Amino acid sequence: MENLNVELGERSYPIHIGPATLRDPQWLRPALEGQRVAVVTNETVGPLHGAALRASLGHCGIREEPLWIELPDGEVHKTLTTVESILTRLLEARLDRGSRIVALGGGVVGDIAGFAAAIYQRGIDFVQVPTTLLAQVDSSVGGKTGVNHPLGKNMIGAFHQPRAVIIDTDTLKTLPERELRAGLAEVIKYGLIRDAEFFAWLEEHIDALRALDPEALAHAIRRSCACKAEVVAADERESGQRALLNLGHTFGHAIEAGMGYGEWLHGEAVGTGMAMAARMSERMGWLDTAERERAEALIRRAGLSLEPPTAVTPQRFHELMAIDKKVSAGRLRLVLLRAIGQAELTDAFDPAALDATLHEDTRVA
Ligand SMILES: NC(=O)c1ccc[n+]([C@@H]2O[C@H](COP(=O)([O-])OP(=O)(O)OC[C@H]3O[C@@H](n4cnc5c(N)ncnc54)[C@H](O)[C@@H]3O)[C@@H](O)[C@H]2O)c1
Repeated sequence: MENLNVELGERSYPIHIGPATLRDPQWLRPALEGQRVAVVTNETVGPLHGAALRASLGHCGIREEPLWIELPDGEVHKTLTTVESILTRLLEARLDRGSRIVALGGGVVGDIAGFAAAIYQRGIDFVQVPTTLLAQVDSSVGGKTGVNHPLGKNMIGAFHQPRAVIIDTDTLKTLPERELRAGLAEVIKYGLIRDAEFFAWLEEHIDALRALDPEALAHAIRRSCACKAEVVAADERESGQRALLNLGHTFGHAIEAGMGYGEWLHGEAVGTGMAMAARMSERMGWLDTAERERAEALIRRAGLSLEPPTAVTPQRFHELMAIDKKVSAGRLRLVLLRAIGQAELTDAFDPAALDATLHEDTRVA
């Protein structure tokens, strides 16, 4: 069992990590006691883990039976229409401003439910119960909530910190292996950007993590959440430090978009994107060869590809990366590595190193 606190002044909150945390009401109770509760989950996770949550809620001293909202599964439902349907259910049930939302599911459910909580009656409290590795180490911590718009992913949203995050590592037993590997990319990312010691620990324990060893999982999730929490605490609204969390993401977004969203999972694309960033960093003389090799070896051992798909040509990469550029005031900025555990956001990179990375990588693939 691991606990940690995200320090954000009066918006601080605890994260509880371990096996069977969902079955033990002591972790949920402080955030819910005496209030009405709406659970937001989806049609996949609800049947798998809803019963454990329901049983726990029975011992949390909540008012009335929880309102149960089961969404269809999938990123395509991460829309304002879905949020509106949740708000309608909350209003029909006359949930008041003291009510709580519990989000049970992956990042999609967490983002939607968190956004509904952010805007229902100008904001009510919510609790994250993330059930994918990606959600456990990334999306449930940090307070970003929101939905997609036809013109852009995650374009509608709000910062709204949860009141608590309850991470039950047992939920990962039902997670498809591919989703687990995608989540590992984000875990490795924390080692690469700011924690060389954690990176070395991951080199020792990557096989245990893939085998769902509970102690290894709890440790890796705790270190990851701590890294994210430290970055968020230093930079809650994303200006400087928080941008380092985007290591591998500019390349990764181009892969996701170039292949058509859903073809490559986000974490899979980030894993490859990090390998590309490591190779580009080496080309620029920032990262030494031995460290680039260590980075690539760990990404490979996590079951992730080092090479982008050939279908996304260098030309297409440039076009898609230019879209990211527009978002950041006209200049393409990349997170690159100075060393394992040390990343830097820069727009002063060598364009030839970028070109060489895109051409060589796609040729190798
Ligand atoms: N808010 C943030 O800071 C932040 C950060 C990163 C990603 N995100 C968002 O997170 C989303 C991706 O999240 P994700 O990777 O968790 O995907 P997801 O929520 O779509 O979950 C992946 C799949 O696994 C299923 N699933 C979830 N838990 C399961 C379990 N325990 N057992 C079996 N199946 C399970 C889901 O129903 C879904 O089919 C994206 O929308 C992304 O934009 C948000």
